[in-house]
Amino acid sequence: MAIILGIESSCDETSAAISIDGEIRANIIANQTIHEKFGGVVPELASRAHQQNIVPVVDQALKEAKISKKDVDAVAFTRGPGLLGSLLVGTSFSKGFALAMDIPLIDINHMQAHILAHFIEDPKPAFPFICLTVSGGHTQIVLVRDYFDMEILGQTLDDAAGEAFDKTAKILQLPYPGGPLIDRYALEGNPEAYAFPEPQIAGLDFSFSGLKTSILYFIRDQVKEDPDFIQRNLPDICASVQFRIVSILINKLKKAADQYGIREIAIAGNVSANSGLRAELLRTGDAQGWQVYIPKFEYCTDNAAMIAMAGHHKFLKGDFATQSVEPLARWAP
Ligand code: KG4
Ligand code: ZN
Repeated sequence: MAIILGIESSCDETSAAISIDGEIRANIIANQTIHEKFGGVVPELASRAHQQNIVPVVDQALKEAKISKKDVDAVAFTRGPGLLGSLLVGTSFSKGFALAMDIPLIDINHMQAHILAHFIEDPKPAFPFICLTVSGGHTQIVLVRDYFDMEILGQTLDDAAGEAFDKTAKILQLPYPGGPLIDRYALEGNPEAYAFPEPQIAGLDFSFSGLKTSILYFIRDQVKEDPDFIQRNLPDICASVQFRIVSILINKLKKAADQYGIREIAIAGNVSANSGLRAELLRTGDAQGWQVYIPKFEYCTDNAAMIAMAGHHKFLKGDFATQSVEPLARWAP
């Protein structure tokens, strides 16, 4: 039997999870609300909050899984990518825990873990599959040949998809993070009300900065004519922006699937919580004959269950880190 403690602290969620033989028995997440009033995550405040949260979160995970810390066989932690000060808290805690309990330490790539979240529950994708990983910091199309054999086929050249949502929300004077709010307003709007351009980027890469600029100019011009333009048309604006972001993502995904002849298609990361993206993926999957995999909401956001799951598979391979392991702010899998 393998009992893995997973630790996630790459951004602004402190999370601990327990997997027993690859089954998640606890997944505790402490969110940090302190950043709201700053309109974005403040790295120094994030690492301080991680320091306060980490021990209680681990205690609660052990309690919920009904095990003691002596039962843990290995500790898996997010080594990167992420905010260095935040990563340092999870890394140091995990090193200390492994040393004190005399158990192996397993370093996990956060982006790989988002993809491996698909192995927490059935149905699980079959290898090889293609995963669109979309978050506040990343937008990648990844060819997944095996648990740790992944190749990035395309990625964003500038803003991430989540940033495109957040920056649009800022233009619309909505609070941070704006993605979930745009999603909510979009439900009541007409996606064809305003036409925003789809950038022409070669290959499987993405770009969102042109879209952001066109939204900025469009809103600026409209507000000049009608100062209440945003308030009057918020659902239509949100629906139109979301429609375009989703179409950029889905069109590249379609291109990748065709190019590689793969029909097992997954999405992962925080932005995969977006209802427009989920719906469009299902529609496209039907039309293209894809097997589509969409994670549960709780496994879209940053969580330690996915770290424990990735840790479980590395544990089976005997792939361990040493006590000299250091966090990496940037780390392509
Ligand atoms: O999960 P989150 O609040 O926090 C972390 O950074 O861990 O958000 C990460 C990113 C943000 O860019 C946010 O706007 C985006 O994911 N996001 C969404 C949705 N939920 C989260 N974007 C679009 N639609 C959503 N439903
Ligand atoms: Zn993440």
